[in-house]
Amino acid sequence: MNQLADDSVDLVVTSPPYNLGIDYRTYSDSSPRDTFLEWCADWSAQVMRVLREDGSFFLNLGGSPSNPLLPHQLLLSLTSPDLFQLQNTFHWIKSISIQTREDETISAGHFKPINSRRYVNDCHEYVFHLTLSGSVTLDRRSAGVPYADKSNIRRWKHTEGNDRRCRGNTWFIPYETIRSRKDQRPHPATFPPALVEQCIKLHGKGKETVLLDPFIGIGSSALAAHNLRIASCIGFEIDEQYLQTARERLSEAQSASQINAYPPQQTGPEPELPLQEGPSTHGA
Ligand SMILES: C[S@@+](CC[C@H](N)C(=O)[O-])C[C@H]1O[C@@H](n2cnc3c(N)ncnc32)[C@H](O)[C@@H]1O
Repeated sequence: MNQLADDSVDLVVTSPPYNLGIDYRTYSDSSPRDTFLEWCADWSAQVMRVLREDGSFFLNLGGSPSNPLLPHQLLLSLTSPDLFQLQNTFHWIKSISIQTREDETISAGHFKPINSRRYVNDCHEYVFHLTLSGSVTLDRRSAGVPYADKSNIRRWKHTEGNDRRCRGNTWFIPYETIRSRKDQRPHPATFPPALVEQCIKLHGKGKETVLLDPFIGIGSSALAAHNLRIASCIGFEIDEQYLQTARERLSEAQSASQINAYPPQQTGPEPELPLQEGPSTHGA
C-alpha cells in the first residue's frame, strides 16, 4: 500500500483478520489485543492516505461469543476527529427466520452453529461505513429495493416516479450454497462478492470506481468488481495459495462471462486487477 499514490482510491471494502485465532495458513491470527490494534492503526493509516476526500471505507468486522467487543474496540480506535468518521453502520445478516402473515416461519441463509447453553448462534457481522468527512453522498437508490406497496411511488415526491427505495442498514446476503468447501471456497473466512457489490452500488461512482481491498483473500472483491464491470480493483494478499485461488476464480468468471455473452456484448472494460502478493505495510 506504500506504493499507492495519495488520494488515488474511491472505495475500500475489506475484511481484515479479526484476531480470533483463525487458521489463515500464513498469517497468525492470535496476537495480544494491543499489538493487534496497533497493527490495524498502521494499515488503516495507509487506507486514510490513499482514500479520496469523497471516498468510502467499508470495514467488515465480526466478533465471537468469547470476544464480542472486538468490532467495537477496533471501531473506537479508528474513529476520532483526526481519523475516520463513522457515517453508517450496516448489519450483514447471514441467516434469518421470519414469520409470515400466515404465521409460517421461513428461514433462509447459512450460519455456523454454536454449541452452547450460554450463547445463541451468531448470524450477523458488522459493516462499518467510514469516511473522512462524515458527509459523503451515497447513491441510496442504486443499492435500493423495489417498493412493496407501489402506491408509495406516486405518494412520495422524492421517488421521482422510480420504483426504488433505500434498502436500509440490514443487508441479508447469504453465502452461496456450495458442494465442496475445499474446491469452491478454500479459505476459512470469506465474504460473498454480493456484499462488496452492495458497497460499490451504494458508493455510487459506477464503472469509474477505483476499488481497494487490502486483505483480498481468495478474491471476493475482485469478483464483485468484475460482476459490476468497474474500472479498477487493487488487492493485497500475504498468502500465495489464496492469491492463486483469487486469480483462478477471476479468470473463470471472466471466461464464463465471455461464453454467456453471445454475441459478445460491449458492456465496458474488464477490470484491471493488479493483485499484489505480499504484506502491505507491516510485514506481518
Ligand atoms: C478475513 S480474510 C479476507 C477474505 C476475503 N474477504 C475473501 O472473501 O476472500 C483476511 C485475509 O488477510 C490476509 N492477510 C493477513 N495479513 C496480511 C497482510 N499483511 N497483507 C496482505 N494480506 C494479509 C490473510 O491471509 C487473509 O486471507
